Formats: sequence, C-alpha cells, structure tokens
Amino acid sequence: MAEHGHDHSHDVSTTGHTWDDEDGFPLQEYNNPLPTWWLYTFYATIVYAVIYWFLYPAWPLVNSFTKGMLGANMYQELAAEEAAAKEKRKGIEAKLANLPLEDIAKDNQLWQFAMSSGKAIFGDNCAPCHGAGGVGSQAGGYPILVDDDWLYGGTMATIQETITHGRAGMMPAHDKANGGAFTSSQVAELTEYVLDLSKRSSNKEAAQKGKALFNGEAGCNNCHGDNGKGSLLDTAGGQKIEPSIGAPNLADAIWLYGGDPATIQATIAKGRNGHMPAWGDSGRLSAMDIKMVTVYVHGLGGGKKAGK
Ligand code: HEC
Ligand code: HEC
Repeated sequence: MAEHGHDHSHDVSTTGHTWDDEDGFPLQEYNNPLPTWWLYTFYATIVYAVIYWFLYPAWPLVNSFTKGMLGANMYQELAAEEAAAKEKRKGIEAKLANLPLEDIAKDNQLWQFAMSSGKAIFGDNCAPCHGAGGVGSQAGGYPILVDDDWLYGGTMATIQETITHGRAGMMPAHDKANGGAFTSSQVAELTEYVLDLSKRSSNKEAAQKGKALFNGEAGCNNCHGDNGKGSLLDTAGGQKIEPSIGAPNLADAIWLYGGDPATIQATIAKGRNGHMPAWGDSGRLSAMDIKMVTVYVHGLGGGKKAGK
C-alpha cells in the first residue's frame, strides 16, 4: 500500500517495543542515542551549576539567600565601584575649582570631564530654550550658541558672566501705536534700510530715508552701530558701544527673531525683550556647574574668537 510504503527493513536498533496498528503494520520504537559530545556537554553544565551554587550566591532563602563560598556580592561590588568613581570625581572637581577657565583646555582629562558634565547640565537646563546642542530658536528669540555670532561675547569669561548673571535684551518699540515716536511709514523705511544692510533692499529710496533715521532721529546706531554691525563689532560716532547692550549685528545672515521683512518690521514696531535667566545669582546652578557648562558652550564651536 502506497500510503504505508515506508521501508522498515533498515538495520536499525530498536528498543524492542512493538505495537500493531489497526492495519496490521508494526509500529516500532527506534533507539537513537544522543551524540556523545552533546551528552558530555550536558553533564559538564550540570557540574558547572553545582560548583557555581557552592561558590556564588545562588539560592533564595526565606529572608536571605545562599551566600556562596567566595563571598562575592554584586551589591558590594557596585557600591565599591561607585565609591571609587565618586572619589575620582571629587579629585577632578577639586582641581577644576582651582583652575582658571582658560587653563582647563590645557589638561585633557579635566577638559573631557568638564565637556561631558557641561553637556549634561546643558541638556537639563538650557536645551529647553536653546535647543539640543545649542541650535537656538527664532520663534522664541533664543540665540544659536553653535556659531561664532554673539550678542554679548564668546570668550569664556563673557559666557560665564552671561550664565551667572543672566541678560536682558532691550530693543525699544518705535511705532507710535506701540508707544514709540515714529509713524508706520517711517518704520517701513527703517525696515527697508535693515534689509539693505544685508543687501536685500528692493527700494533704495526708502532705504536711504531709513538710513538717515537709523543714524539720526531714531538713534538705532547708538546700540546697533553706525554700520548696523551690532554692539560688539561696530562703533557709534567713533565711540565704542557698551557690550552689555547686546544689540545684534543686522548686517549678517544670522537673525535672533527672523530676517524676513515682516519679522523685522514687527521687531522695530513693537520692540523685543529677550530674557536670559541668571543661573548663578538665582542659585539654580553651582559655581562648579556654571564653570563646566561654560566650557561646554565655549566648546560648541562658536567660542573660539573673542567678540564675534
Ligand atoms: C528661558 C529660556 C532660556 C534658558 C532656560 C536659557 N537661556 Fe540662555 N538665553 C536666552 C535668551 C532669550 C537669550 C538672549 C538674551 C537676549 O535676547 O539678550 C539667551 C542668551 C544666552 C547666551 C548669550 C549668547 C550670545 O550671543 O551672547 C548664552 C551664552 C546663553 N544664553 C547660555 C545659556 C546656558 C548655558 C543656559 C543653561 C544654563 C541657558 N542659556 C538657559 C534664553 C534662555
Ligand atoms: C537701546 C538700544 C537699541 C536701540 C536704540 C535699537 N535697538 Fe534694535 N535691538 C537692540 C537689542 C538689545 C536687540 C536684541 C533684542 C533682544 O535681545 O531681545 C535688538 C534687536 C533688533 C532687531 C532684531 C534682530 C534679529 O536678529 O532678529 C532689529 C531688526 C533691530 N533691533 C533694529 C533696530 C532698529 C531699526 C532700530 C532703530 C529704529 C533699533 N533696532 C534700535 C537694541 C537696540
């Protein structure tokens, strides 16, 4: 019969058990021993387990566990490692505390430590405004910290000062409707001049009028400089501008709030008051944390040159 056509005539060892199925075909139990290598591996694992039980903590007891002959204890090991790490951290922090900011970069181990701690501090405290990694956000007027364009300055000392005491940007409103002294068409002319500073004006006549207002009646140059290059890079009537004013460079392609005509016009008309919280004065960060986050911000890529 084809469906039962298995050939039972092989020379196989059987266990001797035989059953007859209904059709009268014998059903036999074969004896296929496990491979020797497998068996020995299996015995070895049993021996290993028994030895392990004796040497290491293994079996749970009612309120405890078998401790093992070696006295190994992962909780103790962890605690010891943690204590050692803490000791090391203390040593590094003591060194950091005494080192002037500028010298931290000279010691590679300290630099690495400050950078990685600073990164964590930044992620917890600063990233909500300045973005992960300091990419900034125009929507909130949060400056980019990864470029080399600064409102207040990119030296270690200035960055530390900014973080410790905070900053308050004060861009006055100029439109009469917002308490300023200028008409909407004057605000439009000022906007045209600001566009001209980055070579985007399409109305040179309005831009010329805007320029006269900028450096004259409106006094924009007192903060932004005679060439609109900002309080750090420019001068006003040959005088150095107070750097803590933090008036941005209007002649570059980097914008705090946005460089499209509508946003520029809104800024001039209504003013802006960007607020960078104080982290030291408020006690929100320790001097050590501020030091480390300063190193991190400076190291983001922008803080190489002084000023801009
Ligand atoms: C609540 C939002 C907010 C948080 C949080 C915040 N900042 Fe700021 N930060 C600002 C704003 C807004 C400015 C720009 C101030 C201005 O417009 O004058 C600024 C400016 C700065 C500047 C000056 C940039 C320049 O161009 O000179 C630095 C540096 C800075 N922040 C670092 C930090 C660090 C480090 C932290 C975390 C410890 C932090 N900020 C947390 C909002 C914030
Ligand atoms: C008292 C100083 C001061 C005066 C005067 C002033 N500004 Fe400003 N301006 C600032 C500051 C500071 C900021 C940044 C605001 C902030 O940090 O929130 C700013 C921001 C701006 C911005 C936004 C730039 C950006 O990157 O988004 C524009 C545009 C601008 N000012 C144009 C003008 C014009 C035009 C005038 C004159 C009508 C003027 N400002 C007068 C201080 C001043």
